[in-house]
Amino acid sequence: MMDASASDLHAADEIAVSVKNVSMVFGDVHAVDNASFDLPKGKFLTILGPSGSGKTTLLRMIAGFDMPTRGEIFINGQPVSAVPPHKRAIGMVFQKLALFPHMTAAENIAFPLKMRRHDARTIPDKVAHYLELVRLGGYGDRRINELSGGQQQRVAIARALVFEPDLLLLDEPLAALDRKLREEMQLEFRRIQKELGVTTINVTHDQREALVVSDEIVIMNDGEIQQKAAPVGAYRTPANAFVANFIGVTNFVEGKVTELAGQQVTFETNGVALSGRIAGNAEAPDIGVNCSGALRAEQIRISSKDGRLDGLESIVQGRVVDCIFEGERVVYEILVAELGDTLMRVFDHDQESHLQFGPGDDVRLGWNARDMQVFKSDR
Ligand SMILES: Nc1ncnc2c1ncn2[C@@H]1O[C@H](COP(=O)(O)OP(=O)(O)OP(=O)(O)O)[C@@H](O)[C@H]1O
Ligand SMILES: [Mg+2]
Repeated sequence: MMDASASDLHAADEIAVSVKNVSMVFGDVHAVDNASFDLPKGKFLTILGPSGSGKTTLLRMIAGFDMPTRGEIFINGQPVSAVPPHKRAIGMVFQKLALFPHMTAAENIAFPLKMRRHDARTIPDKVAHYLELVRLGGYGDRRINELSGGQQQRVAIARALVFEPDLLLLDEPLAALDRKLREEMQLEFRRIQKELGVTTINVTHDQREALVVSDEIVIMNDGEIQQKAAPVGAYRTPANAFVANFIGVTNFVEGKVTELAGQQVTFETNGVALSGRIAGNAEAPDIGVNCSGALRAEQIRISSKDGRLDGLESIVQGRVVDCIFEGERVVYEILVAELGDTLMRVFDHDQESHLQFGPGDDVRLGWNARDMQVFKSDR
């Protein structure tokens, strides 16, 4: 059944992928539980979540490899199940690349064109064009095993794109690469996707990758979609404590709500009153119930124990437990006894102009009340 009424037709034209109330049950495992989202044409969407959250299962259903237990998936308005696999215009790159090792880079890229019976005379030009696109011009005659890991990734991308698919599906294709190469390839993905305007769904458990490459992020946990938002929205206004914890380095202070005034919340933890606010469209906790106050490591300022933290509304005393040098920043781990021995992580990006603290030092921490986002407790 097509569900677009006549008045919806124009809007439906712009939606490339529509996932409607999709579930996949394996025995008693709800691998995907009632997932729904729409992806407009030309956008880059990332499905982000921890291991086992259902990302691959959802992507395989979108690719048409597996049928959902319930619900339906539409690609360009057509149910995926209505189109036989070899007619689906979907390019795919998986973690295991499945390139043909005995063929050259050019032969690998030509393969989907031959399979689709493109005019043989047009194939060399297309292959050359896509080799250029992934910055492998001149490497066409190399065998796969004569290429580096990153170069092989590029061949796989070119092979997925060469037949001009409507949809590109990526399942953690960068997971095996070292960090520097992975970060370069993330930028490559973004560049190529923008250049071609191909609608893309990428799966990853790497929050940084999701923030860097995506127009939209779908965050999953335990088979359920927790939030769909643009990167800035997912970071700044997480929908719940799970999202706040999964993206960014976040401290949680557990407490009980004592006052509510619009978006403003006061909660008590270990006898101390703290202020915060309800994030974006997150669900507000009721007075008297347990809540979690979430505070990003970069939103906390640190000073010596009698230092001034001018203008900050919330100030607590703590003791340095650990001090981790990460190059571009220092991460302090601070035990805050007055908040019931809560361990807080604090970034110091400005090492040069700050006092350095070491384990055992007494310090003060301060933050703005608006930066403390309060969620219903998930414990
Ligand atoms: N064919 C299957 N039969 C039974 N259970 C399965 C099957 N495929 C996946 N599962 C289960 O469904 C859940 C989701 O798995 P899925 O592979 O989608 O997770 P994922 O988010 O891709 O994880 P990862 O990041 O580790 O790849 C897991 O609990 C997994 O064990
Ligand atoms: Mg997976």
